[in-house]
This record gives sequence, C-alpha cells and structure tokens, in this order.
Amino acid sequence: MRHDTRTFLTRRRFVGAAAATGAFYSVPGLFAEQLELTPSVTEGPFYPDKMPLDTDNDLIVINDSATPALGEIAHVTGRVLTQSGEAVRNATVEIWQVDANGVYIHSRAPDKEHRDSNFQGFGRFETGSTGEYRFRTIKPTEYRTGRRVPHIHYAVARNGRRVLTTQLFLKGYGGNGRDSVLRRVQRARRTDSLSVDFKPVPGSEIGELAASFDLVIPG
Ligand SMILES: [Fe+2]
Repeated sequence: MRHDTRTFLTRRRFVGAAAATGAFYSVPGLFAEQLELTPSVTEGPFYPDKMPLDTDNDLIVINDSATPALGEIAHVTGRVLTQSGEAVRNATVEIWQVDANGVYIHSRAPDKEHRDSNFQGFGRFETGSTGEYRFRTIKPTEYRTGRRVPHIHYAVARNGRRVLTTQLFLKGYGGNGRDSVLRRVQRARRTDSLSVDFKPVPGSEIGELAASFDLVIPG
C-alpha cells in the first residue's frame, strides 16, 4: 500500500495534540485502562496446618451444627479479575482469619484454649463464569496479643498454582497506622486498596454486614 505522507503527518500531529491535552487516554477501547493489581502481602504463619472438617464458604456454621460462631456476621464478596477487567472463572479463593476471641484454627496458634469451636476459621470457594466469590464469615477482630489490626487472609489459585496471597483490612480502623504489614504495602505501593468498608446490610434484623473486595491478578 502506498503511504500518503501528508495524511501520516497529520495523524501524528493529531495524536500528539490529543496526548498533550489528556484526551488520548479517554478514547474508548483504544488503550483499555489497566486495573491496579491487588498488592501481595505475606501469608503469615497461620494458614491451616490441618484443614477443618468443613471447608465451604460459610464460616459461621460448621457442617450442620446448630450453634453458629460468635461474632458480627459479615458477607464478604467480590470478583476475581485480570488487569484488563476480565472475570476469572475456576479460580480458587481461600480465606482464613481469627475467631471472635482472636484465635486461629492452626495447631500452634496462641491462646488455643480460648478458641471458638463453632467458627470454621477457613473457607474455600471456586469462582464461576462471573468471577464472583462469596463468604459468610465474621467481621475480623484483633488478635488477643493485639500486635496486628483486624484482617482476613486471602489466597487465590489458578490451575492449582497460587497466584495471589494477600490480606483484607478494615477501612478507617483506628489502629491501621501501627500495623507493620499494612504500613509496608501502603508505603511500597502508595495504595489503600486492601482496606475495605464493612457496611450494614439494609433491613437485616440481626445486624449483618457486607463488604466487597475485588481481587485483581496478573494475566
Ligand atoms: Fe493473620
């Protein structure tokens, strides 16, 4: 194809002008905006060393026990997405956290004698075509030692391979500024994307909460 030099130059000038005004980046579909990768955070020492008998996505009730876990019930949901915003299906999302007394289910967890035996402590969910995951759990609390602020641990795997290890924090929690893990990621990545609002579920008579946390993975 013959190259029309005049058209070529004109187009170049147009692109240059548009880039200078910022309009270049708003052209739909031309340069799809990339989502921010969810920052990786340490797994910590308490990923279950022995899986609970029940590993479903309802951490409040173990198997068909009549006694639910202690704590504020929270519905934690979100989507697993790639950086270009595509839903990731068949991703395995795992969470683990302390119970209402601040104790992990791990066999070497501190303060094991205070453990709430009705809390599952760990859950697993496989995403469908929308990339969505959901857990019923409790709003995270502090450890009994008080060295960390409330958080929920996350691990995401694809095709059996771990692709993200992170933690969710409570947005606006008073002690967040003293948490070493959260401070490190905020300083390194200049982001607060691991902090999430827990809002009351409208109309819930038992004060349930809901939180939304998307997980953006490479690929
Ligand atoms: Fe932890």
